[in-house]
Amino acid sequence: MLAFPEGFLWGAATAAHQVEGNNIGSNWWVMEHAEGTTIVEPSGDAADHYHRYPEDMRLLAAAGLNSYRFSIEWARIEPERGHVSRAALDHYRRMIDTAREVGLDPTVTLMHFTVPRWFQDDGFWRAADAVDLFARYTETVLPLLEGVGYVCTINEPNIAAMLAGGEDAANLVAYGLPNPDLAVADTLLAAHRRSSEILHSVPGIRAGWTIATQAFHSTGEPGADEKLHEYGHPRDFWYLEQSAGDDFVGVQAYTRTFIGPDGPRPVAEDVETTLTGWEFFPEALELGVRSAWELSGGVPVLVTENGIATADDTRRIAYTRGALEGLHRAMADGIDVRGYQHWSALDNYEWASGYRPTFGLIAFDRETFARTPKPSLGWLGDVARRGGLD
Ligand code: NOJ
Repeated sequence: MLAFPEGFLWGAATAAHQVEGNNIGSNWWVMEHAEGTTIVEPSGDAADHYHRYPEDMRLLAAAGLNSYRFSIEWARIEPERGHVSRAALDHYRRMIDTAREVGLDPTVTLMHFTVPRWFQDDGFWRAADAVDLFARYTETVLPLLEGVGYVCTINEPNIAAMLAGGEDAANLVAYGLPNPDLAVADTLLAAHRRSSEILHSVPGIRAGWTIATQAFHSTGEPGADEKLHEYGHPRDFWYLEQSAGDDFVGVQAYTRTFIGPDGPRPVAEDVETTLTGWEFFPEALELGVRSAWELSGGVPVLVTENGIATADDTRRIAYTRGALEGLHRAMADGIDVRGYQHWSALDNYEWASGYRPTFGLIAFDRETFARTPKPSLGWLGDVARRGGLD
């Protein structure tokens, strides 16, 4: 058996906008409804997780998982600039309490891509006071976070810096296409640092951010290795280096990208792909974890996302098994990994791609919202209960 350490977190993850429904105060809601948007469909009711989270948490816990990563929605906490919704604070307090009551250790993300629409209108991450506003939001939610072990300040700042031209829906394309906005990257880093300092005023909170690791592979052609570094640095490596000194780094890994002398290559035609068009490549997790550990200089890793979009749940299980085997190899080499949180707990709104790419361990009916756990949930829950893989 491939055993994982005692106390390892076994969980699943979601993000507010992708599952809650009717996040109308957010910048994404605006973009989803903008004329001429390239977003394939609006998020609408999503999975109605805003009301059904107790049922979802119970399903995860009953399967055998012991942790759940979810995000607090800034747009609900501060729907107008400077106006805090007590009801929204209370909602997320109940979510955190419920997670604990059912036996799931909550991991909380403060910003998972979406921001209040006023924040975007007032200059977004380019506004002079962007860092102050994020710091104030962190202070607002701080009382909820007492006793929470892992808090992720910003989800995938490396992707957020690419989507920073958010007013232009044409930018909302798949990973890796737009160029990152380096000024925004610096601002996100400053926001992460300020937010982490604030979080540290609550004893026991571990603060970190979560990085999209992209397993860049050189094609081996002349010039490809240099290009890989030049391309990968502002998209990936730089963020992992900046994690040095953090309490943990969240690793998110899905697939790999080949880099030739001219840059990234489209996915080859003869490889298995998933519903997002990405290569089926479970080794991405091991590579992501190793590169996070090396580039951060040995910061503890929490796998905050890993999974595949597929309608064939047997491929989800095969992928997850492969990913966990790789994770185990990395840990056997001494890398300190604290947990594995699968993306995603539920099928959900995959941003510009809408509802078609199904990443969930649990399916839901778009009209009745009835939940159907998939075999992969039972499979991962069994791994969690046994503390390892056969
Ligand atoms: C990364 C993001 O954090 C999440 O929002 C997204 O749905 C998954 N990866 C899959 O693309």
